Amino acid sequence: MGDQASRLREQMSLWLKSQHAGSDAMSDDGGRAVDASSAPVFAIMSGKGGVGKTNLCVNLALAFAEDGVRVLLVDADAGFADVEILFDSTPLLTLWDVAAGAPMEEALLAPRPHVDVLAGGSGRFFDEVDDTAWNRLWRGIANVSPRYACVLVDCAPGVHAFGERMLRQGAHPICVVTPEPTAITDGYALLKWMRVKKLGVEPWLVVNRAKSRAEADDTAARLVDAAAKFLNMQVAYAGWIRDDPALVKSVMARRPLLQLVPGSPAASGYRQLARWVRERARPAGRGADGEETAR
Ligand SMILES: Nc1ncnc2c1ncn2[C@@H]1O[C@H](COP(=O)(O)OP(=O)(O)O)[C@@H](O)[C@H]1O
Ligand SMILES: [Mg+2]
Repeated sequence: MGDQASRLREQMSLWLKSQHAGSDAMSDDGGRAVDASSAPVFAIMSGKGGVGKTNLCVNLALAFAEDGVRVLLVDADAGFADVEILFDSTPLLTLWDVAAGAPMEEALLAPRPHVDVLAGGSGRFFDEVDDTAWNRLWRGIANVSPRYACVLVDCAPGVHAFGERMLRQGAHPICVVTPEPTAITDGYALLKWMRVKKLGVEPWLVVNRAKSRAEADDTAARLVDAAAKFLNMQVAYAGWIRDDPALVKSVMARRPLLQLVPGSPAASGYRQLARWVRERARPAGRGADGEETAR
């Protein structure tokens, strides 16, 4: 896993170097220096919609923040932007504005201490992100990423060009499923897509809405085993979150679970998952809080 995290940073760093060596034409943000201290980017994905990605992103970010770790959360389920709703905030600029050339700095929201958000914007749809728009957006994220311990990208469900671009450029997939057969089957299809596209990733898996640890472990084992057997793909079981009525309550209240009911079972699951991710994502030369240490 440690290898995976360093591979992730290496890819990001290589991409950044190629951008800096290449064109100033693309440097809409003034070409701020970026280096290998760029934070790992995690793409939170699922085959099926409604499995809990957005709540996972928001509460994972808050779990990091509780420990003083700074996180950037990017809402890439653009057009159906739920992150801003869960934080009860109203963005002026979104990911689409950054893709169209707006400075990243101006688009960032800070809904909670240690948590910055690039909002997705609701009701504004784009069929496809062209190369220029994509490069502006990815570069915007990359340029600010050294400030953070990690970047969480809340993706649209299913397979899409946006996800493919991200994974090709070094983002690491975290796949979310629930124990429902539809979610498991669609989760497997997502893994298969990664294999067919030869993305060369070793995804992490999260089981959400499990009634018990046994149910979560059984769900994970089915996917991990199937991926190994039929796709020759290594999938790591990162953790599970309990099916918890307190989570539904928190959505209705537009207050993240970790703040509304911090002692709830699902909140503990998010915290445990955050620890799992941190253990594997910490860049060499950085302390536990994401700050750079003496090299
Ligand atoms: N751990 C959980 N326990 C109970 N309900 C959950 C849990 N996670 C998600 N949900 C329910 O599923 C809904 C969809 O979650 P959301 O995070 O928006 O999914 P996605 O982003 O994958 O579409 C939530 O509004 C909530 O009602
Ligand atoms: Mg969502």
